[in-house]
Amino acid sequence: MFLRNQWYAATLAADIGDKPFPRTICGEPIVFFRTETGRIGALEDRCSHRHAPLSFGAVKGETIECGYHGFMFDCAGACTHIPGQASVPPRAAIRSYPVVERAGWLFVWIGDAEQADETLLPDLPWFGADGWQWWHVYYHGDAAAQLYIDNLLDITHTAYLHQKTIGTPEVPDHPPKVTTEGTRVQVNRLNKQVTPAPFIAKWGGFPGKIDAYTDYSWEPPSIIKLRTTRTDGERTLQYWLVNPVTPETETTAHFWFAWASEQHLDDPEYKKQTYKGIAEGVLLEDFAMIEAQQKVIRERASLPPVVPSQADAPLVAVHKVLKSLFQKQAADQSTAGVTKVAS
Ligand code: FES
Ligand SMILES: [Fe+2]
Repeated sequence: MFLRNQWYAATLAADIGDKPFPRTICGEPIVFFRTETGRIGALEDRCSHRHAPLSFGAVKGETIECGYHGFMFDCAGACTHIPGQASVPPRAAIRSYPVVERAGWLFVWIGDAEQADETLLPDLPWFGADGWQWWHVYYHGDAAAQLYIDNLLDITHTAYLHQKTIGTPEVPDHPPKVTTEGTRVQVNRLNKQVTPAPFIAKWGGFPGKIDAYTDYSWEPPSIIKLRTTRTDGERTLQYWLVNPVTPETETTAHFWFAWASEQHLDDPEYKKQTYKGIAEGVLLEDFAMIEAQQKVIRERASLPPVVPSQADAPLVAVHKVLKSLFQKQAADQSTAGVTKVAS
C-alpha cells in the first residue's frame, strides 16, 4: 500500500533526455521523456493500441511514438496520430502524470492528478544556489522504501555499522529530541565531546574531541533533510544531506543521496572525498544490512512485532504520522466509494 496524492522523487532530471526512460513508481510503470522543446512528459508506460510499453518507442518532436505500430502521444497523454487513418478516437488517450523538475530531481504526483499541488513540493534551496557545491547519487534498492527511511532516521546505527567510516561510539549515549509538527517530524541530537569518526576527523581536520550536532526532519511521503555540524571550537565542518526514498514496489525502492556544502568551494578534492567516502563507503555498509534485513523479513511466513528501543523515538514518531495518513487515505477512499455508489 502506498501513500497517494503525494509528490515522489522519480528520477534525476539529468537522466531524462531524448530517449524514453521507464521507471516504476509506487507500483505504477511510467515512461518519462523530454520533448524537442524541453517539456517533460510522464505517461503510463502502456500504449492504448495493444499495450506495448511506450518506453520501447522514441521521442518525436513533442510526442512519444510507440515502437510497435507508431501511435503517437503528447505530454498530456492524448493520442495525436494513428498511422493510416485520419481521425483518432478520444479513448486512445492514456494516463499522464503531473511532473515537476526541482533541485535536480523530477518529482511525479502519484494519485489524483487534479489534486496535484506544487506548493507541497519539498523545499530544497541548496542545489543550484550560488555559493554551494553539491552532488546527487541514485541507487536501486532491493528492500522496501520504509527500511531505508528507518535506517536514515536512526542515527544510533552509525556507532556499529559505520565504525570505520562515520560512526562515533558515544552516539547511543545521547538520546535524540523528537518533535512532531503536523505531519513533519523534527529530530535534534547533540553529542558533546565525542571522538570524531575516521572520515569526520579527516574532512574537518579535527585532532581531538568534537561536539556533534545532527538536526534532521522527515516529511511525507518520504524525504529526509539532515544538517550535520561538527566543531571543536576552532574548526567547524557542516553540510546538508537530502534523501528522497521512493517505493518502486512493496519490496524495492529508489534511493537518492544528495550532499550540499557551503564550505571549501575552491577545493575540488573536498567534494570528491565526501562523494567517495559516502557514496562508495558508508552507503554500501547501509545497503548490505538493509537488504539482508529485507531478506529475513521476506523469507519468514510470520514474524513477531519489532521491539523498539528508546533510541528509536524518531522512527516511532514517523510511523505514527504515517499510520494516521494511511487511516485518512482509507477513510477518504471509502467515502469516495460511497459517493460513487450513491450517485
Ligand atoms: S501497440 Fe503501440 S502502436 Fe501498436
Ligand atoms: Fe547508515
